[in-house]
Amino acid sequence: MLRLQTPLEERYTAAAPEELAERIAAAKATLGDRLFILGHHYQRDEVIRWADARGDSFKLAKLAAATPEADYIVFCGVHFMAEAADILTGDHQQVILPDLNAGCSMADMAELWAVTEAWESLEDVVDIDRVVPITYMNSSAALKAFVGRNGGAVCTSSNARAILKWAFERGDQVLFFPDQHLGRNTGYQMGYDESHMAVWNPRKDLGGLTEAQCKDARFLLWKGHCSVHQRFSVEQIADFRAKYPEGIVVVHPECSHEVCELADQVGSTEYILRAVADAPAGSVIGVGTEIHMVNRLANETPDKTVMSLDPLVCPCSTMFRIDGPHLCWVLEELVEGRVPNRIEVDPEVAEWAKVALDRMLSIT
Ligand code: 13P
Ligand code: SF4
Repeated sequence: MLRLQTPLEERYTAAAPEELAERIAAAKATLGDRLFILGHHYQRDEVIRWADARGDSFKLAKLAAATPEADYIVFCGVHFMAEAADILTGDHQQVILPDLNAGCSMADMAELWAVTEAWESLEDVVDIDRVVPITYMNSSAALKAFVGRNGGAVCTSSNARAILKWAFERGDQVLFFPDQHLGRNTGYQMGYDESHMAVWNPRKDLGGLTEAQCKDARFLLWKGHCSVHQRFSVEQIADFRAKYPEGIVVVHPECSHEVCELADQVGSTEYILRAVADAPAGSVIGVGTEIHMVNRLANETPDKTVMSLDPLVCPCSTMFRIDGPHLCWVLEELVEGRVPNRIEVDPEVAEWAKVALDRMLSIT
């Protein structure tokens, strides 16, 4: 999806980091309690330091819903997270994304028309009333609405298991999008294996599956992935273990199943944070997730050695778009009484997407 961010003026792009920090602090002080800044763990240090709360996508969604006193929620994260915040906040609140180009390549791998087409083709071959659609939080509001309308729910990386358990109490099959890895990894955690799963390729007729494969699969996994997490490999874990035989490997469930199987612990960004905090002093921890979070964990945990499993840096290029200049710009605009980059979900879409989000929040 093409989203256009207005280029910033030179007073933002050319400002020194110290000057930006002073201006951000001043704008934040002026806005006071009317402003609430949320920061995802993958944000840069120059941004996350201003966040009133940090979290994974689940925690941030709950925090947005639980902050009715703030007029402005500045979301330092990516587009789908800001949309979820808009859906979960009151009509008097405005959600702002500092850079409109901060999307998510995984979320873009499942578009409404493609999922609708998949659903319609499935209707011809399976009992669609027994299929529960589950969308990962990393998806557009339009897809969340699709799921809400069709009896499904949203999940995040921290509650996928509970949501899938809920889904299988309601149906026999799950259409899970857009991340095949989260779906597969959670399925394995629940005791299923590859024989219960089929990958739905949206570029092919009937997802590239036979009618029998569609009928037999408990999990129909959308062929989507995260380009950051799919870089982590079995070889990297083997190298880490060879160097640090006592080391602990913690990875995000967007990594491939082979990688998750070899890890000691698998969980959301908030889970990874806790896993590092709970590890004994002196531990060496190899982490499979975005590099800004790993580097921050390394700096904030001096009694442990925290490192990325990937020797080559793997930032999330869209999270990276939010920087000091963009944060400063949106805050100074708010001080002037202008609301830039408001993320506003169409009311009808928001109504159904909220159904799917509320189901998630009530299950977990
Ligand atoms: P979390 O829900 O674990 O924060 O993950 C979001 C995400 O985009 C990971 O790539
Ligand atoms: Fe999307 Fe991957 Fe970035 Fe997460 S890390 S926001 S899934 S591209």
